[in-house]
Amino acid sequence: MKEILHELEVRRERARMGGGQARIDAQHKRGKLTARERIDVFLDEGSFEEFDMFVEHRSTDFGMEKTKIAGDGVVTGWGTVNGRTVFVFAKDFTVFGGSLSETHAQKIMKVQDMALKNRAPIIGLYDAGGARIQEGVAALGGYAEVFQRNVLASGVIPQISVIMGPCAGGDVYSPAMTDFIFMVRDTSYMFVTGPDVVKTVTNETVTAEELGGASVHTTKSSIADGAYDNDVDALLQVRRLVDFLPQSNTSPVPEIECFQSVEEIDASLDTLVPANANKPYDIKELILKTVDEGDFFEIQESFARNIVCGFGRIEGATVGFVANQPMVLAGVLDSDASRKAARFVRFCDCFNIPVVTFVDVPGFLPGTAQEYGGLIKHGAKLLFAFAEATVPKVTLITRKAYGGAYDVMASKHLRGDINYAWPTAQIAVMGAKGAVEIIFRKDIADPEKIAEHTKMYEDRFLSPFVAAERGYIDEVIMPHSTRKRIARALRLLRNKDLENPWKKHDNIPL
Ligand code: HXC
Repeated sequence: MKEILHELEVRRERARMGGGQARIDAQHKRGKLTARERIDVFLDEGSFEEFDMFVEHRSTDFGMEKTKIAGDGVVTGWGTVNGRTVFVFAKDFTVFGGSLSETHAQKIMKVQDMALKNRAPIIGLYDAGGARIQEGVAALGGYAEVFQRNVLASGVIPQISVIMGPCAGGDVYSPAMTDFIFMVRDTSYMFVTGPDVVKTVTNETVTAEELGGASVHTTKSSIADGAYDNDVDALLQVRRLVDFLPQSNTSPVPEIECFQSVEEIDASLDTLVPANANKPYDIKELILKTVDEGDFFEIQESFARNIVCGFGRIEGATVGFVANQPMVLAGVLDSDASRKAARFVRFCDCFNIPVVTFVDVPGFLPGTAQEYGGLIKHGAKLLFAFAEATVPKVTLITRKAYGGAYDVMASKHLRGDINYAWPTAQIAVMGAKGAVEIIFRKDIADPEKIAEHTKMYEDRFLSPFVAAERGYIDEVIMPHSTRKRIARALRLLRNKDLENPWKKHDNIPL
């Protein structure tokens, strides 16, 4: 009996060594943790239960039968993050570069199926070279089965990918179908085809970092939702994100104890909006002063910075925030900002997370670059996302809400539940200057008359009251009581019951 127990320990120890000490050392030398070390950092201490530790590949081509490594390049199982169940898989780069074989794929599918059946989030830690080249179509088939499961789980359980090494081929497409992707700076890359293939096909010379590093994917392509300096930081931040998310689309949003009363007023907000309407201010200050204890998890912080998206809590419960940022391009809506916020709003709606929207938007960005780039379709994405969302929607107009952008930004007309405005709000078709130059074109040469018309336009339209008179604004509130008013609105909406008509699925303008 003792020998059998010992045999188990020996086998486990061998499996834990993955591709061997030399490859583990190489991994550490590159500043990367191993798959098991990453899981240890990510999960609550001692909570990891591993599955399929002894699974090996079944390939016999290219002499593969001689190199079989227990676990076959991926560590899978489940554990907890602050006590809540999550499923995990971590690619082991020390074993065939973490590449995916038929059996490796089956291990991932097993945890995908379990996560879906048990309605718990699944987190993939990626450090891998795509399909196992020696296995050919068996590996391709394996990927497609993983992709299919990604799609079926989309909108049912949260799926998160963390890119922690060079990832190519299937190891970028599976993450691309998950809800959030995070990267580690300087050690992780994502590309469909690597620099060597790029050189052969297009004759471009490009480094891995230039082609698919964290800076590319967080600032240019918007493939990644955030980047961190090292493995540990990335994993701890993803734990923080998991704390904000519900277990599934039928679970309530998580609630934790709130240590900041919502009754306190914040007088500093009364002077947040500058007297000069063309001066910027930082909308993040309003977000941080609205959420519990200033704890805000921003998504896509470095991309389309003219809109801010992220998670916070109010009275302990998760809320999604979408806010125009006057500090960047005056908070204008362009294609990138629209796509970024649309995806975020849809995530919140999938998982019953209420959306709070702060509006200070001068309109959509004009110009050929935007129009040729499909602004109509991208802007429509955000309009569509807000309009279809059935979660509680609380909107606050702090300053400008001009033109189509007024409609788009969770207006009353798109089933906004509670729509507030500060007294500084200006809700109009456009700013005074533009409006006067169009409707009083005949007086354009007379500065005195133009000034008079402008003043009249400002007095009449650049206030919240015209909209409030029509009921498009439920109430004009004092800036200092924003947190309290939003908390009250969200409390009121806790039992909101709204359903869209039955459909197979919608046809959002992609
Ligand atoms: C088998 C692989 C492998 C793969 C790496 N290895 N990728 N083995 N299949 N796909 C092995 C290497 O042979 C090596 O083994 C070890 O992993 C480490 O690889 P290195 O090349 O030494 O590491 P590095 O220099 O860091 O480069 C990492 C890499 C590179 C950028 C990932 O290995 C690479 O380009 N691999 C191929 C990527 C690729 O084209 N994959 C197929 C994509 S197609 P030893 O024994 O020396 O340690 C695909 C299809 C699905 O995925 C598409 C669905 C849409």
